[in-house]
Amino acid sequence: MSKPAIETTPPCTLFLFGGSGDLVKRLLMPALYNLSRDGLLDKGLRIVGVDHNPLSDADFAGRLEAFMRERDKASQGANCLDDKLWGRLAKRVGYLTGDFLSEATYQAIARRIEKNPSENAVFYLATSPGFFGEVVQRLGAAGLLDESRGFRRVVVEKPFGSDLASAEALNACLLKVMSEKQIYRIDHYLGKETVQNILVSRFSNGLFEAFWNNHYIDHVQITAAETVGVETRGAFYDHTGALRDMVPNHLFQLLAMVAMEPPAAFGADAVRSEKAKVIGAIRPWSKTMALKNSVRGQYVAGKQGRKQLPGYRDEPRVDPHSQTETFVALKVMIDNWRWVGVPFYLRTGKRMSVRDTEIAICFKPAPSAQFRDTEVDKIKPNYLRIQIQPNEGMWFDLQAKRPGPALVMENIELGFAYKDFFTMLPYTGYETLIYDCLTGDQTLFQRADNIENGWRAVQPFLDAWKEGGEVHTYAAGEDGPEAATELMSRDRRVWHSIG
Ligand code: BG6
Repeated sequence: MSKPAIETTPPCTLFLFGGSGDLVKRLLMPALYNLSRDGLLDKGLRIVGVDHNPLSDADFAGRLEAFMRERDKASQGANCLDDKLWGRLAKRVGYLTGDFLSEATYQAIARRIEKNPSENAVFYLATSPGFFGEVVQRLGAAGLLDESRGFRRVVVEKPFGSDLASAEALNACLLKVMSEKQIYRIDHYLGKETVQNILVSRFSNGLFEAFWNNHYIDHVQITAAETVGVETRGAFYDHTGALRDMVPNHLFQLLAMVAMEPPAAFGADAVRSEKAKVIGAIRPWSKTMALKNSVRGQYVAGKQGRKQLPGYRDEPRVDPHSQTETFVALKVMIDNWRWVGVPFYLRTGKRMSVRDTEIAICFKPAPSAQFRDTEVDKIKPNYLRIQIQPNEGMWFDLQAKRPGPALVMENIELGFAYKDFFTMLPYTGYETLIYDCLTGDQTLFQRADNIENGWRAVQPFLDAWKEGGEVHTYAAGEDGPEAATELMSRDRRVWHSIG
């Protein structure tokens, strides 16, 4: 984000650990294709899938191509797969069969690197999280993280730990064999244009700063509502739950974008220091307060439109007695000068009524004395709604007088929709992240302290839930349990309606 995206990436070998997995074919390869469509990849980039199942280079490229074609067909050509372009990219794709735990794999990687004119290498860990530490230790032991003949970087996917202790242990393990400058911890929310735009809008428009504080803002709501259930990920999700899956990472990144202080520059160190500070300022609740300020929910059978949907416990590979939450609502407070007294309400869930990720900033109400003897009985608060997806844009909810002799107020929207201003080419959200990693810009990646502060703030909820609290139910297709509404009404507030 700190530079105009015009230079091509340097020559490099990009190793995709977990090459035959889902992430590579669904997101990483399409993102690399889009980068090459935009002319941003150097001709010297080589892409090598690494995985245990035996495949030739041609088989691997063939599988990726089949998936890309299927995807293009399913989107009725919206993904615009160009045969020539794909052909050129496919020539740079290779595969290495290897066990992640065997020394021979790392020797073969070293040989691949040496074969290329440039010895730059990026190792992308698109594996299950259990391998992160193991692979990195082996890369280190094989001398592959030594940067004397080219840069060496490691991209670590999510989930980064499952609580504070495991995240600290993983950080310590990575930092034993490389420096922080070599580590790119991914949160794919930071690849979204709308998320990056929060910083740009806040800090490039002088008007926002004037009211961006506890004098004018009453509270902030951050919602990530999904209509999907757990799909094929039942086994993973049942051990993870909505809190771990979405809050310390995606939702806290949104919170940080809204709440951080202006960084001294748009560089990686300045931006990430401000984010670490604000996430570090989230008040650590006591167990009692953590229970009071959180609501867990699990979906039971319900309907989306006319479609009948199973309950969570009936999903494949989910424990039929599971107590895992598929919805969570939290209230957190940020103890710093800007935000003292302004609650941040967060909620996220699977199988809700619509897909909608949005930040609603609710302003303090206008004093209504002027309207005392009129028909206007209550003035609604103004909201600034930052819509992350799917309807990307920003809207101000204001009040206006309806034309006519009576004093009647109407809600109106001042808005900016991305699609009205910009051509939206198909992107996966991983393009900027891959580009930034290849060009060495860590701004959109999480530093160790960002990750640990995130876990530190959710740890009280994890600890409190171990000992008590109820898992409420909600019907699939609804927006979470009644208790989530109560979490707000207790503070005389309401959730902004989603969708
Ligand atoms: C992932 C979570 O990190 O983010 C998923 O593991 C979730 O459970 C997904 O569905 C949401 O991402 P997006 O980009 O669809 O909002």
